[in-house]
Amino acid sequence: MNEIKIFAPATIANLNCGFDILGCCIDGIGDEMIFRKSTEKGIRITKITDADLPYETSKNVAGVAALAIYETQNVNFGIEIEIHKKIKAGSGIGSSSASAAGAVFGVNELLGKPFSKKELVAFAMKGEVIASGSEHADNVAPCLLGNFTLIRGYNPLDIIEIKSPDDLFAVVLHPHIEVKTADARAVLSKEIPLKDAITQTGNLGGFIAGLYTNDYYLMGRSLQDVIVEPKRKHLIPHFDKVKAAALEHDALGCGISGAGPSIFALCKSKSTAEIVAENMKNAYENSGISFDTYVSKINPDGCKLI
Ligand code: HSE
Repeated sequence: MNEIKIFAPATIANLNCGFDILGCCIDGIGDEMIFRKSTEKGIRITKITDADLPYETSKNVAGVAALAIYETQNVNFGIEIEIHKKIKAGSGIGSSSASAAGAVFGVNELLGKPFSKKELVAFAMKGEVIASGSEHADNVAPCLLGNFTLIRGYNPLDIIEIKSPDDLFAVVLHPHIEVKTADARAVLSKEIPLKDAITQTGNLGGFIAGLYTNDYYLMGRSLQDVIVEPKRKHLIPHFDKVKAAALEHDALGCGISGAGPSIFALCKSKSTAEIVAENMKNAYENSGISFDTYVSKINPDGCKLI
C-alpha cells in the first residue's frame, strides 16, 4: 500500500455539560487527505486546498501530529500528505482536530497500523496544541473513534467510547465568522463556584446515563452549561435567538459547538432534526451573517479509508 485516501469527520465538542472531556462525531462534513509513501524520509505537506495553512511540517497541525507518530517507527520511507479542507478553520466543528486526527490515522495506515485508533488520540493531541494552545482531546477522540467519547482523565489518558442511541441526530448551524479557540478559551474563568461544579457534574452524569439507557429526555435535560456558555455566548451573534428557536421545536438540547461559533442541537429522530434545523435557519436568516446548516446522524465510524 503506497497511497491511501481518508475521510476525517467533523465533531461537536463539549456538548454543554462536558467541557474539554465530551464530544461526538458527525457525518457528511469532513476533510479528505491523501497519504503517499516517498523515498525521502520525513513528513512533507505537498498540497493544501480550500484553506490558507502553512506547508512547513512543524507549523502545520497535520504535520506536527503526523510527525509525532512517524518518529516512533524506524522506517526507510517518508510520507507526503495532501490536505483537502472541507471544514473551515475556526468554525467550532473540529477543523484543526480533523487535520490532526486524519493525519495520525493516515500515517498509521502507511506505517502498517502499529497503533490502535484509541492509541492514536495522544499523537493527534500534539497537533491540536498547535491550533489552540491546549492539548484537549474532546474533538480528536470522537474524530478518530466515532460515536461519543468521554475523556475520563488526561493524565494518564483514559478514553471511554460510548455508542450513540440509534435515533439521535445532530443539527449544526455554522455562522460564517471565525472564533479562534485560543480567544474563546481566554474568556473563561480559571476558577468556578462550587454550586456550578455541582450542577455541571450532575448534568454530565445525567447525559452519560441517558446515552447508556437510550433515555432521550434525560439526555435533553442534562444538556445544560452553567460554566462555559455564559462566558462565551457573546462571541456568537444571535446565539440566544437560535437556541430558543431550537428548543421551541423540540430539540433535546442546544448549545455552542466546541469553541463556537457553530451552534449545535441534538434531536430525537431525523424528522425532528430537520424541523429544528429549519427553525434555527429562520432565526438566523436576517442576521446579516451567511451560514450553513447540517443535519447528521451521529457518525459511528470516525476517521476511515475512502
Ligand atoms: N473543548 C474545547 C473548547 C473545544 O471548548 O475550547 C474546542 O477545540
